[in-house]
Amino acid sequence: MREFSSPLKLQTYRESLEGSVGFVPTMGALHEGHISLIKRSINENDHTIVSIFVNPTQFLEGEDLDKYPRKIEADRKICELAGVDILFMPTIDDIYHGDELRIIAPKIKGYILEGAKRPKHFDGVLQIVLKLLHITNPTRAYFGKKDAQQLYLIQNMVRDLFMSVEIVPCEIVRESDGLALSSRNIYLSSEERAKALLISKSLKEASGLVLKGVRDSKRIKAQMLEIMRDIDVEYVEIVDRAFNLLDEVKIKDSIILVAARVGSTRLIDNIWI
Ligand code: PAF
Repeated sequence: MREFSSPLKLQTYRESLEGSVGFVPTMGALHEGHISLIKRSINENDHTIVSIFVNPTQFLEGEDLDKYPRKIEADRKICELAGVDILFMPTIDDIYHGDELRIIAPKIKGYILEGAKRPKHFDGVLQIVLKLLHITNPTRAYFGKKDAQQLYLIQNMVRDLFMSVEIVPCEIVRESDGLALSSRNIYLSSEERAKALLISKSLKEASGLVLKGVRDSKRIKAQMLEIMRDIDVEYVEIVDRAFNLLDEVKIKDSIILVAARVGSTRLIDNIWI
């Protein structure tokens, strides 16, 4: 496995590569969710690049930037064992140059739901993803469906800017009891972890209701909130795949989203209907 921290050196090396390139951007603290993206990229491409960069511009003042888990040695091992060809680990100075061009997320879809709770978060996400896509120039880039709004905004950025990369959405990976994998799960105490399960439980209940023929969003959301009454829910919403709020679930075109705080840990999860 080759390692790069310099974007320019990686760009030069990438130009020498023949065949397809898959790219998996991450902020490290790799878990089975990331590994499933990496494996998919390895299966579908001649070369796979993984980046590890805890991007400061997507964290808001007071969020967990400083304590965000950093596990460089373990991450390097995971990448090596998985068969990653190139590991890109730039520093903040490698990526940002001070007073520079800024990307602003779409006024509406970038500022609802996650964007309303974390204003400018998606500006930072799109800025780093655009830079990383320019540096790695991949054939395909892999993103998890757990960050559904992020995925949607990246797909739209690629469309809006006429970029040729294929964005590949990847399934959410869960623990056997339903908890969606997240680098932030390590913040949870065992009692908090038990409470965090209410999120996936409520999503399971929602999909059960849909299976029984219930379509009314209000009714589904009320039932979910009842299940999550012991945690601090920030939002429960049902949207279509273009992130328009839905009064009625549309089969094969809905996502049910939850954001909640368990203790001081903020978690998101969703289910695609
Ligand atoms: O989903 C993430 O881990 C991050 O938002 C990403 C896409 C790596 C950008 O920093």
